[in-house]
Amino acid sequence: MHHNEQDFITSILKNAQRLLIISLIIIVGFAFLMLDMANVLPKVFSDSDNKIANIEQPEVKAKNDFWSPPDISTIKDEAKKELVLKGKDLIQNTAKYFGPKGSVAHTSNGMNCQNCHLNAGTSIFGNNYGSVASTYPKLRSRSGTFETIPKRINDCFERSLNGSGLDTLSNEMLAMVSYMQFIGSDVERGKKAKGSGLKTIPFLDRAVDPEKGEKIYAAKCASCHMPNGEGQLTQEGNSYTYPPLWGPNSYNDAAGLYRITNFAKYVKFNMPLGSTHESPQLTDEEAWDVAGFVNTRQRPQKRFPKDWPDISKKPIDHPFGPYADAFPEKQHKLGPFGPIQEYYANKSQK
Ligand code: HEC
Ligand code: HEC
Repeated sequence: MHHNEQDFITSILKNAQRLLIISLIIIVGFAFLMLDMANVLPKVFSDSDNKIANIEQPEVKAKNDFWSPPDISTIKDEAKKELVLKGKDLIQNTAKYFGPKGSVAHTSNGMNCQNCHLNAGTSIFGNNYGSVASTYPKLRSRSGTFETIPKRINDCFERSLNGSGLDTLSNEMLAMVSYMQFIGSDVERGKKAKGSGLKTIPFLDRAVDPEKGEKIYAAKCASCHMPNGEGQLTQEGNSYTYPPLWGPNSYNDAAGLYRITNFAKYVKFNMPLGSTHESPQLTDEEAWDVAGFVNTRQRPQKRFPKDWPDISKKPIDHPFGPYADAFPEKQHKLGPFGPIQEYYANKSQK
């Protein structure tokens, strides 16, 4: 009897202890949920568009001012300074070295990296390289692999410059990588520089309208990029004063700018030339529609069969199927994007 009573008491105590632990877990869990709903907890970031699930971190929040690159003239080691300057030169004058009349090789379309990565890749929201040193190598869903900086540079050579990649051990590659590493050297590993890459603009609630875009193009772009989009060569003819936007010398249909969201974001805050994120000249609608016009013109086609090994990771505006959803290819190319985004948002909640 005495013995049983003791057992009984111990068992009550044990149960009470369990109950206490369980309640604690519930309370703590609930507190985290509330914090999360209030957006207090850090979010796990993905690439700018929801569906490129990379390992990325929130932007550097501590400083409120935008990223700016350190000054190359402060590099003390002369050999290093020379290499970094050479990398900058290659980014600004790529065609001089690798264009159709290039002095090193004829392996690209005559565009310069700087045509799309403004001011040698240092302009705020001008598709700059501020986060390259801090985030590569990184997992990219397009290739399904960890990509190094040289691999990413060669991606742009093969797609945006519609050419072939450089030998990754070449001096030119080393120089470009050194330049990107130097200008990103103040950015904490794993963090994104504030104002790097492109700035997001809201989706339209309709599909983009290439016909409206054609009028915008004629009024605001054709004076420099020419009525047929072919751009204007310099007098020496070895590079462009105004780069082409479509036609045989433009970026191919596997390039980043061929995704309409990238094009719209780029032009909204950078074009017509002289626009910035602080003084945009196009409305969101104009940026989307002109993107629709330019990206429905003729351009080089190039297939990369190994792209997107997991089709469910394709960005919603990837213009080529197959897709992990039932929306038609045309809607993926020109929108409306809201319903596609919603579909994936609902899916990921389940
Ligand atoms: C026709 C436009 C265009 C040209 C020319 C171009 N790029 Fe790009 N590049 C892009 C776009 C757009 C992106 C972003 C693509 C995306 O996120 O899908 C990009 C991304 C990159 C990135 C990755 C940036 C990051 O933060 O992840 C690097 C590095 C890069 N380009 C290097 C180069 C180099 C080097 C050249 C010249 C050999 C070059 N690019 C030429 C359009 C271009
Ligand atoms: C005053 C001349 C000018 C006007 C007007 C202008 N651009 Fe540009 N654009 C340029 C120059 C110059 C570059 C290359 C910048 C560099 O290399 O620094 C460029 C680059 C571009 C690029 C990236 C490179 C490429 O060829 O793919 C795109 C896209 C672009 N412009 C689209 C537009 C659109 C769309 C408009 C109209 C809304 C427009 N631009 C109006 C001068 C202009």
